[in-house]
Amino acid sequence: MNTNMKHNILGGPQDIFYANSNIVPLPLITRTKGIWMYDDEGNSYIDVSSGPVVSNIGHGNERVADAMAHQAKTMDFAYSRVSRHQPNIDLTECISKLAGPGYERVALASGGSEAMEIALKFLRQYVVATGKLSKKKIITLTPSYHGGTIATLAITGDDALDPFIDGFAVKSERIPAPFQYRVPEGHTPESYRMECAEALEIKIQELGAENVLAFVVEPIGGLATGAQPQCEDYVNRVREICTRHGVYLIYDEILCGTGRTGQFLASHAWPDAPGDLVVLAKGLGSGYAPLGAVLMPANMVDHLAGLTGFNFSHTYNANPITCATGLAVLAEYERLDLLNAASARGAYLKVGLEGLAESHPSIGDIRGSGMLMAVELVSNRETKSSFPAEFPPTEHIRIIGLKHGLIIYSRRTANGKYGDWFMVAPPLTITEAECDDMLARLDAVLNDFEIQAAQYMGI
Ligand SMILES: Cc1ncc(COP(=O)(O)O)c(C=O)c1O
Repeated sequence: MNTNMKHNILGGPQDIFYANSNIVPLPLITRTKGIWMYDDEGNSYIDVSSGPVVSNIGHGNERVADAMAHQAKTMDFAYSRVSRHQPNIDLTECISKLAGPGYERVALASGGSEAMEIALKFLRQYVVATGKLSKKKIITLTPSYHGGTIATLAITGDDALDPFIDGFAVKSERIPAPFQYRVPEGHTPESYRMECAEALEIKIQELGAENVLAFVVEPIGGLATGAQPQCEDYVNRVREICTRHGVYLIYDEILCGTGRTGQFLASHAWPDAPGDLVVLAKGLGSGYAPLGAVLMPANMVDHLAGLTGFNFSHTYNANPITCATGLAVLAEYERLDLLNAASARGAYLKVGLEGLAESHPSIGDIRGSGMLMAVELVSNRETKSSFPAEFPPTEHIRIIGLKHGLIIYSRRTANGKYGDWFMVAPPLTITEAECDDMLARLDAVLNDFEIQAAQYMGI
Protein backbone atom coordinates (compact mmCIF):
# COMPACT_ATOMS: atom_id res chain seq x y z
CA MET A 1 0.00 0.00 0.00
CA ASN A 2 1.28 3.43 -0.88
CA THR A 3 1.49 5.17 2.49
CA ASN A 4 0.55 8.48 0.88
CA MET A 5 -2.82 6.95 0.05
CA LYS A 6 -3.62 6.25 3.70
CA HIS A 7 -5.97 9.21 4.10
CA ASN A 8 -8.14 7.89 1.28
CA ILE A 9 -9.07 4.62 2.95
CA LEU A 10 -11.42 3.75 5.76
CA GLY A 11 -10.26 1.35 8.45
CA GLY A 12 -7.24 -0.24 6.88
CA PRO A 13 -5.10 -3.29 7.66
CA GLN A 14 -3.61 -3.68 11.16
CA ASP A 15 -0.27 -2.32 9.93
CA ILE A 16 -1.85 1.10 9.38
CA PHE A 17 -0.96 1.71 13.03
CA TYR A 18 2.73 0.87 12.62
CA ALA A 19 5.50 3.27 11.66
CA ASN A 20 5.43 3.99 7.93
CA SER A 21 9.03 2.87 7.69
CA ASN A 22 8.10 -0.66 8.82
CA ILE A 23 5.38 -1.53 6.40
CA VAL A 24 6.64 -1.26 2.86
CA PRO A 25 6.19 -3.64 1.14
CA LEU A 26 3.85 -6.14 2.79
CA PRO A 27 2.30 -8.87 0.63
CA LEU A 28 -1.48 -9.37 0.75
CA ILE A 29 -1.75 -13.03 1.74
CA THR A 30 -4.78 -14.83 0.38
CA ARG A 31 -4.03 -18.52 0.93
CA THR A 32 -1.75 -20.70 3.07
CA LYS A 33 -0.78 -24.37 3.07
CA GLY A 34 1.93 -26.21 5.03
CA ILE A 35 4.97 -23.93 5.16
CA TRP A 36 3.72 -21.84 2.23
CA MET A 37 1.92 -18.51 1.95
CA TYR A 38 0.46 -17.17 -1.31
CA ASP A 39 -0.35 -13.56 -2.16
CA ASP A 40 -2.89 -11.85 -4.41
CA GLU A 41 -0.31 -11.38 -7.18
CA GLY A 42 0.45 -15.08 -7.56
CA ASN A 43 3.68 -15.08 -5.53
CA SER A 44 4.50 -17.86 -3.09
CA TYR A 45 6.61 -17.54 0.04
CA ILE A 46 8.05 -19.88 2.66
CA ASP A 47 6.97 -18.86 6.16
CA VAL A 48 10.50 -18.88 7.61
CA SER A 49 9.47 -17.98 11.16
CA SER A 50 5.92 -19.41 11.37
CA GLY A 51 4.73 -15.81 11.69
CA PRO A 52 5.83 -14.74 15.16
CA VAL A 53 6.72 -18.41 15.93
CA VAL A 54 3.08 -19.45 16.08
CA SER A 55 2.17 -21.76 13.17
CA ASN A 56 3.83 -24.84 14.66
CA ILE A 57 1.63 -27.45 12.96
CA GLY A 58 1.77 -25.67 9.61
CA HIS A 59 -0.92 -23.83 7.69
CA GLY A 60 -4.12 -25.17 6.20
CA ASN A 61 -4.51 -28.21 8.43
CA GLU A 62 -7.89 -29.65 7.48
CA ARG A 63 -8.33 -31.82 10.57
CA VAL A 64 -8.05 -28.75 12.75
CA ALA A 65 -10.35 -26.75 10.45
CA ASP A 66 -12.91 -29.57 10.59
CA ALA A 67 -12.72 -29.75 14.39
CA MET A 68 -13.30 -26.00 14.59
CA ALA A 69 -16.28 -26.15 12.25
CA HIS A 70 -17.72 -29.15 14.07
CA GLN A 71 -17.45 -27.37 17.42
CA ALA A 72 -19.02 -24.20 16.04
CA LYS A 73 -21.92 -26.21 14.64
CA THR A 74 -22.58 -28.35 17.74
CA MET A 75 -21.93 -25.99 20.66
CA ASP A 76 -20.51 -22.59 19.90
CA PHE A 77 -20.29 -21.09 23.35
CA ALA A 78 -20.93 -21.93 26.98
CA TYR A 79 -19.76 -19.51 29.62
CA SER A 80 -17.42 -20.92 32.24
CA ARG A 81 -18.97 -18.96 35.14
CA VAL A 82 -22.36 -20.59 34.66
CA SER A 83 -21.68 -23.91 32.93
CA ARG A 84 -19.03 -26.52 32.08
CA HIS A 85 -18.11 -28.08 28.78
CA GLN A 86 -16.16 -31.11 27.65
CA PRO A 87 -13.64 -29.42 25.29
CA ASN A 88 -12.38 -27.38 28.28
CA ILE A 89 -12.05 -30.48 30.46
CA ASP A 90 -10.38 -32.49 27.67
CA LEU A 91 -7.92 -29.77 26.65
CA THR A 92 -6.68 -29.02 30.17
CA GLU A 93 -6.25 -32.76 30.84
CA CYS A 94 -4.28 -33.14 27.62
CA ILE A 95 -2.00 -30.15 28.36
CA SER A 96 -1.47 -31.23 31.94
CA LYS A 97 -0.46 -34.77 30.84
CA LEU A 98 2.04 -33.37 28.35
CA ALA A 99 3.43 -30.91 30.89
CA GLY A 100 3.87 -33.54 33.62
CA PRO A 101 4.07 -33.41 37.43
CA GLY A 102 3.82 -29.98 39.02
CA TYR A 103 1.42 -28.74 36.38
CA GLU A 104 -1.85 -30.43 37.28
CA ARG A 105 -3.97 -27.32 36.76
CA VAL A 106 -4.31 -25.31 33.55
CA ALA A 107 -5.91 -21.86 33.32
CA LEU A 108 -6.82 -21.02 29.74
CA ALA A 109 -6.45 -17.59 28.17
CA SER A 110 -6.85 -15.90 24.79
CA GLY A 111 -3.16 -15.41 24.01
CA GLY A 112 0.23 -14.86 25.55
CA SER A 113 -0.06 -11.47 27.24
CA GLU A 114 -3.35 -12.37 28.85
CA ALA A 115 -1.89 -15.67 30.08
CA MET A 116 1.14 -13.86 31.52
CA GLU A 117 -1.17 -11.48 33.35
CA ILE A 118 -3.13 -14.45 34.71
CA ALA A 119 0.12 -15.96 36.03
CA LEU A 120 1.05 -12.71 37.79
CA LYS A 121 -2.47 -12.14 39.12
CA PHE A 122 -2.72 -15.71 40.36
CA LEU A 123 0.53 -15.44 42.33
CA ARG A 124 -0.46 -12.05 43.72
CA GLN A 125 -3.86 -13.39 44.75
CA TYR A 126 -2.15 -16.39 46.36
CA VAL A 127 0.19 -14.29 48.52
CA VAL A 128 -2.62 -11.87 49.44
CA ALA A 129 -4.82 -14.78 50.51
CA THR A 130 -2.00 -16.37 52.51
CA GLY A 131 -1.05 -13.17 54.32
CA LYS A 132 2.17 -12.25 52.48
CA LEU A 133 0.90 -8.91 51.28
CA SER A 134 4.29 -7.28 50.86
CA LYS A 135 5.22 -9.60 47.99
CA LYS A 136 4.69 -7.36 44.96
CA LYS A 137 7.96 -6.95 43.08
CA ILE A 138 8.58 -8.76 39.82
CA ILE A 139 12.12 -9.29 38.51
CA THR A 140 12.79 -9.72 34.78
CA LEU A 141 15.73 -9.66 32.39
CA THR A 142 16.93 -6.86 30.14
CA PRO A 143 16.28 -7.45 27.33
CA SER A 144 13.15 -9.58 27.45
CA TYR A 145 9.61 -9.53 26.10
CA HIS A 146 6.59 -10.60 28.11
CA GLY A 147 3.65 -9.11 26.26
CA GLY A 148 1.82 -6.13 24.90
CA THR A 149 -0.72 -5.27 27.63
CA ILE A 150 0.13 -2.41 29.97
CA ALA A 151 1.17 -4.72 32.82
CA THR A 152 3.22 -7.05 30.63
CA LEU A 153 4.91 -4.15 28.84
CA ALA A 154 5.84 -2.88 32.29
CA ILE A 155 7.67 -6.15 33.06
CA THR A 156 9.22 -6.34 29.58
CA GLY A 157 12.95 -5.59 29.73
CA ASP A 158 13.23 -2.85 27.13
CA ASP A 159 14.60 0.51 28.28
CA ALA A 160 13.23 2.18 25.16
CA LEU A 161 9.77 1.76 26.72
CA ASP A 162 10.66 3.89 29.76
CA PRO A 163 9.05 7.14 28.53
CA PHE A 164 5.85 5.21 27.85
CA ILE A 165 5.79 3.23 31.11
CA ASP A 166 7.30 5.53 33.73
CA GLY A 167 4.54 6.76 36.01
CA PHE A 168 1.94 4.91 33.93
CA ALA A 169 2.46 1.37 35.21
CA VAL A 170 4.65 -0.41 37.74
CA LYS A 171 7.88 -1.52 36.13
CA SER A 172 9.63 -4.74 37.00
CA GLU A 173 13.05 -4.75 38.61
CA ARG A 174 15.64 -5.60 35.98
CA ILE A 175 18.77 -7.73 35.88
CA PRO A 176 20.92 -8.45 32.80
CA ALA A 177 20.05 -11.26 30.38
CA PRO A 178 22.89 -13.78 30.16
CA PHE A 179 23.84 -13.16 26.53
CA GLN A 180 26.39 -15.68 25.36
CA TYR A 181 27.50 -14.35 21.97
CA ARG A 182 28.81 -11.01 23.20
CA VAL A 183 30.05 -11.01 26.80
CA PRO A 184 31.61 -8.10 28.69
CA GLU A 185 35.37 -7.88 28.63
CA GLY A 186 37.14 -10.19 31.03
CA HIS A 187 34.30 -12.73 30.96
CA THR A 188 33.86 -16.11 29.36
CA PRO A 189 30.29 -17.01 28.38
CA GLU A 190 30.16 -19.27 31.45
CA SER A 191 31.49 -16.73 33.92
CA TYR A 192 29.11 -14.11 32.52
CA ARG A 193 26.00 -16.22 32.86
CA MET A 194 26.96 -17.13 36.42
CA GLU A 195 27.41 -13.43 37.16
CA CYS A 196 23.95 -12.83 35.67
CA ALA A 197 22.53 -15.53 37.97
CA GLU A 198 24.24 -13.87 40.96
CA ALA A 199 22.58 -10.61 39.90
CA LEU A 200 19.26 -12.24 40.79
CA GLU A 201 20.47 -13.06 44.31
CA ILE A 202 21.80 -9.51 44.74
CA LYS A 203 18.56 -7.97 43.45
CA ILE A 204 16.41 -10.08 45.79
CA GLN A 205 18.59 -9.13 48.76
CA GLU A 206 18.45 -5.47 47.78
CA LEU A 207 14.64 -5.53 47.52
CA GLY A 208 14.11 -7.84 50.50
CA ALA A 209 12.85 -11.35 49.70
CA GLU A 210 9.64 -10.59 51.59
CA ASN A 211 8.84 -7.99 48.91
CA VAL A 212 9.59 -10.11 45.84
CA LEU A 213 6.79 -12.07 44.22
CA ALA A 214 8.35 -13.62 41.15
CA PHE A 215 11.23 -13.88 38.72
CA VAL A 216 9.98 -14.19 35.11
CA VAL A 217 12.33 -15.57 32.47
CA GLU A 218 12.10 -16.97 28.94
CA PRO A 219 13.88 -20.37 28.78
CA ILE A 220 14.76 -19.46 25.20
CA GLY A 221 14.48 -15.82 24.31
CA GLY A 222 12.19 -14.84 21.50
CA LEU A 223 12.42 -11.62 19.58
CA ALA A 224 14.05 -9.74 22.44
CA THR A 225 17.28 -11.72 22.39
CA GLY A 226 17.02 -13.55 19.08
CA ALA A 227 16.54 -17.10 20.38
CA GLN A 228 19.19 -16.90 23.10
CA PRO A 229 18.79 -20.15 25.07
CA GLN A 230 19.42 -20.20 28.81
CA CYS A 231 22.06 -22.71 29.94
CA GLU A 232 21.41 -25.46 32.44
CA ASP A 233 23.89 -24.16 35.04
CA TYR A 234 22.20 -20.73 34.88
CA VAL A 235 18.67 -22.05 35.40
CA ASN A 236 19.78 -24.49 38.10
CA ARG A 237 21.34 -21.60 39.99
CA VAL A 238 18.31 -19.36 39.42
CA ARG A 239 15.99 -22.15 40.59
CA GLU A 240 18.02 -22.61 43.75
CA ILE A 241 18.03 -18.84 44.48
CA CYS A 242 14.25 -18.54 43.94
CA THR A 243 13.53 -21.54 46.16
CA ARG A 244 15.81 -20.33 48.95
CA HIS A 245 14.21 -16.88 48.97
CA GLY A 246 10.60 -17.98 48.50
CA VAL A 247 10.37 -16.23 45.13
CA TYR A 248 8.19 -17.86 42.45
CA LEU A 249 9.89 -18.78 39.20
CA ILE A 250 7.70 -18.20 36.13
CA TYR A 251 8.89 -19.57 32.81
CA ASP A 252 7.57 -17.53 29.90
CA GLU A 253 7.29 -20.30 27.31
CA ILE A 254 4.77 -18.39 25.23
CA LEU A 255 7.09 -18.53 22.24
CA CYS A 256 9.55 -21.34 23.02
CA GLY A 257 7.10 -23.86 24.53
CA THR A 258 4.64 -26.30 22.96
CA GLY A 259 7.22 -28.42 21.22
CA ARG A 260 9.50 -25.93 19.48
CA THR A 261 12.60 -27.33 21.16
CA GLY A 262 11.72 -31.01 20.70
CA GLN A 263 10.14 -31.35 24.12
CA PHE A 264 6.67 -30.20 25.07
CA LEU A 265 8.11 -27.59 27.43
CA ALA A 266 11.47 -25.99 26.70
CA SER A 267 12.14 -26.22 30.45
CA HIS A 268 11.71 -30.02 30.30
CA ALA A 269 15.38 -29.93 29.29
CA TRP A 270 16.21 -29.02 32.91
CA PRO A 271 14.87 -31.69 35.27
CA ASP A 272 16.41 -29.94 38.30
CA ALA A 273 14.97 -26.54 37.50
CA PRO A 274 11.22 -26.76 36.92
CA GLY A 275 9.23 -23.52 36.97
CA ASP A 276 6.59 -22.89 39.60
CA LEU A 277 4.32 -21.65 36.83
CA VAL A 278 4.75 -21.99 33.07
CA VAL A 279 3.00 -19.77 30.54
CA LEU A 280 2.22 -21.07 27.05
CA ALA A 281 0.49 -19.58 23.99
CA LYS A 282 1.43 -19.27 20.30
CA GLY A 283 2.02 -22.89 19.16
CA LEU A 284 -0.75 -24.15 21.45
CA GLY A 285 -3.35 -22.67 19.12
CA SER A 286 -0.86 -22.74 16.23
CA GLY A 287 -2.50 -19.73 14.60
CA TYR A 288 -5.90 -21.41 14.28
CA ALA A 289 -7.36 -19.85 17.44
CA PRO A 290 -6.10 -17.35 20.03
CA LEU A 291 -5.10 -19.60 22.92
CA GLY A 292 -2.84 -19.25 25.93
CA ALA A 293 -2.44 -21.31 29.09
CA VAL A 294 -0.92 -21.04 32.54
CA LEU A 295 0.33 -24.32 33.99
CA MET A 296 0.10 -24.44 37.76
CA PRO A 297 0.50 -26.98 40.57
CA ALA A 298 -2.70 -28.45 42.04
CA ASN A 299 -1.64 -27.73 45.61
CA MET A 300 -1.52 -23.97 45.03
CA VAL A 301 -4.71 -23.77 42.97
CA ASP A 302 -6.68 -25.99 45.33
CA HIS A 303 -5.33 -24.19 48.39
CA LEU A 304 -6.35 -20.81 46.97
CA ALA A 305 -9.75 -22.17 45.91
CA GLY A 306 -10.33 -22.99 49.60
CA LEU A 307 -9.51 -19.39 50.56
CA THR A 308 -10.52 -16.55 48.25
CA GLY A 309 -10.25 -18.50 45.01
CA PHE A 310 -8.75 -17.02 41.87
CA ASN A 311 -11.70 -15.07 40.62
CA PHE A 312 -10.44 -13.01 37.73
CA SER A 313 -11.52 -14.11 34.29
CA HIS A 314 -12.16 -12.96 30.75
CA THR A 315 -15.25 -13.68 28.67
CA TYR A 316 -13.42 -15.82 26.12
CA ASN A 317 -11.31 -17.85 28.59
CA ALA A 318 -11.79 -21.56 27.82
CA ASN A 319 -14.39 -20.91 25.14
CA PRO A 320 -15.50 -24.10 23.37
CA ILE A 321 -14.27 -23.33 19.85
CA THR A 322 -10.79 -22.38 21.06
CA CYS A 323 -10.63 -25.44 23.33
CA ALA A 324 -11.68 -27.75 20.49
CA THR A 325 -9.06 -26.11 18.30
CA GLY A 326 -6.34 -26.57 20.91
CA LEU A 327 -7.30 -30.25 21.28
CA ALA A 328 -7.19 -30.78 17.52
CA VAL A 329 -3.81 -29.02 17.33
CA LEU A 330 -2.34 -31.22 20.07
CA ALA A 331 -3.76 -34.31 18.34
CA GLU A 332 -1.82 -33.24 15.24
CA TYR A 333 1.36 -32.94 17.29
CA GLU A 334 0.94 -36.59 18.20
CA ARG A 335 -0.21 -37.87 14.80
CA LEU A 336 2.61 -36.09 12.97
CA ASP A 337 5.20 -36.79 15.71
CA LEU A 338 6.08 -33.10 15.81
CA LEU A 339 8.26 -33.14 18.93
CA ASN A 340 10.68 -35.53 17.26
CA ALA A 341 10.36 -33.55 14.02
CA ALA A 342 11.38 -30.38 15.86
CA SER A 343 14.58 -32.08 17.05
CA ALA A 344 15.40 -33.91 13.83
CA ARG A 345 14.56 -31.20 11.31
CA GLY A 346 15.90 -28.52 13.66
CA ALA A 347 19.28 -30.29 13.73
CA TYR A 348 19.18 -30.66 9.94
CA LEU A 349 18.44 -26.96 9.47
CA LYS A 350 21.17 -25.96 11.89
CA VAL A 351 23.76 -27.88 9.88
CA GLY A 352 22.47 -26.13 6.76
CA LEU A 353 22.70 -22.70 8.40
CA GLU A 354 26.23 -23.45 9.57
CA GLY A 355 27.04 -24.33 5.96
CA LEU A 356 25.72 -20.90 4.89
CA ALA A 357 27.91 -19.25 7.52
CA GLU A 358 30.99 -20.65 5.74
CA SER A 359 30.29 -18.54 2.67
CA HIS A 360 28.49 -15.60 4.30
CA PRO A 361 30.65 -13.44 6.56
CA SER A 362 27.58 -11.42 7.60
CA ILE A 363 26.45 -14.39 9.70
CA GLY A 364 27.88 -13.72 13.16
CA ASP A 365 26.00 -16.27 15.24
CA ILE A 366 23.49 -19.07 14.83
CA ARG A 367 21.74 -19.91 18.08
CA GLY A 368 18.64 -21.50 19.49
CA SER A 369 17.32 -24.94 20.18
CA GLY A 370 15.36 -27.47 18.14
CA MET A 371 13.34 -25.65 15.50
CA LEU A 372 13.71 -22.26 17.17
CA MET A 373 16.78 -20.52 15.86
CA ALA A 374 18.00 -17.05 15.02
CA VAL A 375 20.77 -15.84 12.75
CA GLU A 376 22.64 -12.76 13.97
CA LEU A 377 23.92 -10.42 11.27
CA VAL A 378 27.19 -8.57 11.80
CA SER A 379 29.27 -6.17 9.77
CA ASN A 380 32.47 -7.78 11.04
CA ARG A 381 32.62 -11.33 12.30
CA GLU A 382 35.92 -10.85 14.15
CA THR A 383 34.76 -7.84 16.15
CA LYS A 384 31.08 -8.97 16.20
CA SER A 385 30.15 -5.39 15.27
CA SER A 386 26.58 -4.63 14.31
CA PHE A 387 25.70 -2.74 11.14
CA PRO A 388 25.32 1.03 11.46
CA ALA A 389 21.88 2.31 12.47
CA GLU A 390 21.46 3.97 9.04
CA PHE A 391 21.73 0.56 7.37
CA PRO A 392 19.23 -1.58 9.33
CA PRO A 393 20.08 -5.10 8.16
CA THR A 394 16.82 -6.53 9.42
CA GLU A 395 14.75 -4.36 7.09
CA HIS A 396 17.03 -5.15 4.14
CA ILE A 397 16.87 -8.88 4.80
CA ARG A 398 13.08 -8.81 5.06
CA ILE A 399 12.63 -6.94 1.79
CA ILE A 400 15.19 -9.04 -0.13
CA GLY A 401 13.54 -12.14 1.36
CA LEU A 402 10.23 -11.29 -0.31
CA LYS A 403 11.99 -11.14 -3.67
CA HIS A 404 13.29 -14.68 -3.14
CA GLY A 405 10.01 -16.09 -1.86
CA LEU A 406 10.69 -15.92 1.88
CA ILE A 407 8.72 -14.20 4.60
CA ILE A 408 11.38 -13.32 7.15
CA TYR A 409 10.75 -11.95 10.64
CA SER A 410 13.70 -9.93 11.83
CA ARG A 411 14.50 -7.60 14.69
CA ARG A 412 16.78 -4.75 15.59
CA THR A 413 16.24 -4.11 19.30
CA ALA A 414 17.32 -0.88 20.97
CA ASN A 415 18.76 0.40 17.70
CA GLY A 416 21.06 -2.57 17.37
CA LYS A 417 22.38 -2.44 20.96
CA TYR A 418 21.58 -6.12 21.37
CA GLY A 419 22.32 -7.03 17.78
CA ASP A 420 20.28 -7.67 14.63
CA TRP A 421 18.90 -11.05 13.74
CA PHE A 422 16.23 -12.91 11.87
CA MET A 423 14.31 -15.89 13.13
CA VAL A 424 14.54 -19.32 11.55
CA ALA A 425 11.58 -21.16 13.01
CA PRO A 426 9.47 -22.66 10.22
CA PRO A 427 6.46 -24.88 10.94
CA LEU A 428 7.52 -28.14 12.60
CA THR A 429 5.97 -29.98 9.65
CA ILE A 430 8.71 -28.82 7.27
CA THR A 431 10.32 -31.65 5.27
CA GLU A 432 14.04 -32.07 4.52
CA ALA A 433 13.41 -31.12 0.89
CA GLU A 434 11.63 -27.96 2.02
CA CYS A 435 14.53 -27.19 4.40
CA ASP A 436 16.90 -27.48 1.41
CA ASP A 437 14.68 -25.16 -0.64
CA MET A 438 14.55 -22.62 2.19
CA LEU A 439 18.33 -22.78 2.71
CA ALA A 440 18.97 -22.23 -1.01
CA ARG A 441 16.71 -19.17 -0.95
CA LEU A 442 18.41 -17.88 2.22
CA ASP A 443 21.75 -18.31 0.44
CA ALA A 444 20.47 -16.10 -2.40
CA VAL A 445 19.05 -13.55 0.08
CA LEU A 446 22.37 -13.35 1.93
CA ASN A 447 24.24 -12.92 -1.38
CA ASP A 448 22.06 -9.94 -2.30
CA PHE A 449 22.25 -8.58 1.22
CA GLU A 450 26.03 -8.73 1.32
CA ILE A 451 26.28 -6.94 -2.03
CA GLN A 452 24.00 -4.17 -0.69
CA ALA A 453 25.93 -4.00 2.58
CA ALA A 454 29.27 -3.78 0.76
CA GLN A 455 27.92 -0.98 -1.45
CA TYR A 456 26.68 0.89 1.60
CA MET A 457 29.89 0.47 3.57
CA GLY A 458 31.94 1.36 0.48
CA ILE A 459 33.78 -1.96 0.50
C1 LIG B 1 8.16 -14.50 25.12
C2 LIG B 1 6.85 -13.84 24.84
N1 LIG B 1 6.05 -13.51 25.88
C3 LIG B 1 4.85 -12.94 25.68
C4 LIG B 1 4.37 -12.66 24.42
C5 LIG B 1 3.01 -12.03 24.24
O1 LIG B 1 2.14 -12.92 23.62
P1 LIG B 1 0.90 -12.40 22.76
O2 LIG B 1 1.45 -11.64 21.61
O3 LIG B 1 0.17 -13.66 22.36
O4 LIG B 1 0.06 -11.56 23.66
C6 LIG B 1 5.17 -12.98 23.32
C7 LIG B 1 4.72 -12.65 21.95
O5 LIG B 1 5.50 -12.47 21.04
C8 LIG B 1 6.44 -13.57 23.53
O6 LIG B 1 7.24 -13.89 22.50
